[in-house]
Amino acid sequence: MSRIILFENSIFNAENITQVLIDVNHMFNPDLKTRILKKSGLNTFGEYVNKVICNGSILISCEKEVIEGVCMIYHNDLVNFTAYIPIIAVRNNFQKKGVGQRLLEYSFELAVSNKMKKIVIKTWKTNDGAIQFYNKNGFVVTEQHNFDITLEKNL
Ligand SMILES: CC(C)(COP(=O)(O)OP(=O)(O)OC[C@H]1O[C@@H](n2cnc3c(N)ncnc32)[C@H](O)[C@@H]1OP(=O)(O)O)[C@@H](O)C(=O)NCCC(=O)NCCS
Repeated sequence: MSRIILFENSIFNAENITQVLIDVNHMFNPDLKTRILKKSGLNTFGEYVNKVICNGSILISCEKEVIEGVCMIYHNDLVNFTAYIPIIAVRNNFQKKGVGQRLLEYSFELAVSNKMKKIVIKTWKTNDGAIQFYNKNGFVVTEQHNFDITLEKNL
């Protein structure tokens, strides 16, 4: 049975997480490298993973030493009390088995325990599967951009 664990309590290192991002890169549109690295001004997934380790949390769904998926979350905004999920991704072979659902539920608990009142996520407008997944979990669209949409959920 797989379980959700925080990066710092896991057997995994930053390179393992970086490898997951490389594996899921092309599931994103544009690819994850373009979406994330451009915005953050960083050059590699490795640098990005270290940034999240320092400023947020990484949730890992794993079975023994196999990582099925990850969810990254910032929950340190004590002005607006709004958490933000920059990445949630489940590796191809493990999709549609409830892994994303468990990662998201854990992220809600983590956000609440860090006093967050809202949680925000962005995706691209044509990512129908993910949008259905977010709607099912109580997110509503709050902003529409040219290519992306922003969704929010009250915690
Ligand atoms: C979006 C994603 C994280 C969902 O993870 P998952 O483990 O496949 O999802 P789950 O199995 O936990 O599904 C939970 C619910 O979401 C919905 N859902 C998930 N994927 C769906 C899809 N492709 N189409 C329609 N509904 C979907 C289902 O309603 C499902 O509920 P059900 O079991 O009652 O049918 C995963 O598909 C993924 O990594 N996609 C590629 C990366 C991505 O798009 N990330 C989000 C962009 S920011």
